[in-house]
Amino acid sequence: MKRLHIRIQDIISRWYNRGNVAQSVRRLAADTFFSLLKIIVKPMTLIARMKKLWIILLAISCGAMSCDKDEPPVDKNMDEYKLTTEGLKDFFTQAEYFDIGVAIPPSFVDNQVKVNLIKRHFNSITAENDMKWSSLQPTEGTFNFTNADKIVAFAQNNGMKVRGHCLCWHNQVPSWIFKDGTADASKELVLQRLRTHITTVVNHFKGKVYAWDVVNEAIDDGSSTYRASKWYTICGEDYIFEAFKAAREADPDAVLFYNDYTAIDPTKRDKIYDLLVKLKAQNLVDGMGLQGHWNISYPSNSLINDALNKYKSLGLQIQITEMDVSVYTSNSDPKSAYTADLAQKQTSAFGRYFLAFRNFKEAITGVTFWGLADDYTWLDNFPVAGRKNYPLLFDENLNPKPAYFEIIDF
Ligand code: GLA
Repeated sequence: MKRLHIRIQDIISRWYNRGNVAQSVRRLAADTFFSLLKIIVKPMTLIARMKKLWIILLAISCGAMSCDKDEPPVDKNMDEYKLTTEGLKDFFTQAEYFDIGVAIPPSFVDNQVKVNLIKRHFNSITAENDMKWSSLQPTEGTFNFTNADKIVAFAQNNGMKVRGHCLCWHNQVPSWIFKDGTADASKELVLQRLRTHITTVVNHFKGKVYAWDVVNEAIDDGSSTYRASKWYTICGEDYIFEAFKAAREADPDAVLFYNDYTAIDPTKRDKIYDLLVKLKAQNLVDGMGLQGHWNISYPSNSLINDALNKYKSLGLQIQITEMDVSVYTSNSDPKSAYTADLAQKQTSAFGRYFLAFRNFKEAITGVTFWGLADDYTWLDNFPVAGRKNYPLLFDENLNPKPAYFEIIDF
């Protein structure tokens, strides 16, 4: 009886202090139950009479459990997610929609938790960095395929496709390409190195890599047509065509893409379009890759729709090749936690973007995320170093975010 007394006191004091009353009521119910059991264990008739009381006590206990405010609200989405095995690729099927891809470093292949998440959701893999020139041919004539091969083997062992990224870019490219001893290399030498690199790499992955980002980010952000990269200043626009020719010759079955960011911006879009027209006239390009490094408010639906319509009108396939949705809309936004407000904005942005992709499913053949989960993203250090970002569908614990449930809900 002492315990019952303590329990009642506990309830009163919690009630008074706005504490966890329900928990105390539950404890009281349990204690009362066992106390009564002890007292009336012998006379069965009495037990029968007390049955009604037990039911009342149990009801109080159950009621207390269900009204316990300290227990987390039931998240039906998460409950269902845990009980099922479907992932993104099962909602966006290849037959009806498009491939769902993810860019990864080779270390992910050794992390079983990440492997499980990748296998559940994705059917296409991109090497985040390991097929770039500086990874594959850091010094002239010395190719190193170890990391890239590891990623490709993982994809093949798990029935996933591989997008090759990228054969010719102005970043992550070794300086020796543009040098001849201490002098600048001639156009001929640079183009010859470009052809050698592309032929070697595409041949190496022939039959394993189904698509290549052949040239990445060649268009200027400002008023010029082409970016004033080393490639361009030495070779003019010829390097773009030479790159595509070498890739086409090395693997006629590979799907060849031009890839760029801000490809929805009307000025840049139109410059890209003109380049694609020229490439297509020579049967050198098959697809347009929009990187899709977007944010919670940009781009607008009309920018996306206009761009997709324009690229689609060329009869090329379209892929979103590097999707992430930054929670910051400007370089001056201060570092923030992943607040409910940001989560809500990001959820609605992802919803908008995927609605557009679904509307263009006839032209879109793949959507690849630039990263798996918020625990590892290049945006933590770009464009602002040390500013934590949360741009993906899975959180830092690899759990699906509301944005995930938003885009699969159609
Ligand atoms: C560009 C490149 C990618 C990657 C991202 C940043 O979009 O195409 O390969 O380097 O920048 O990580």
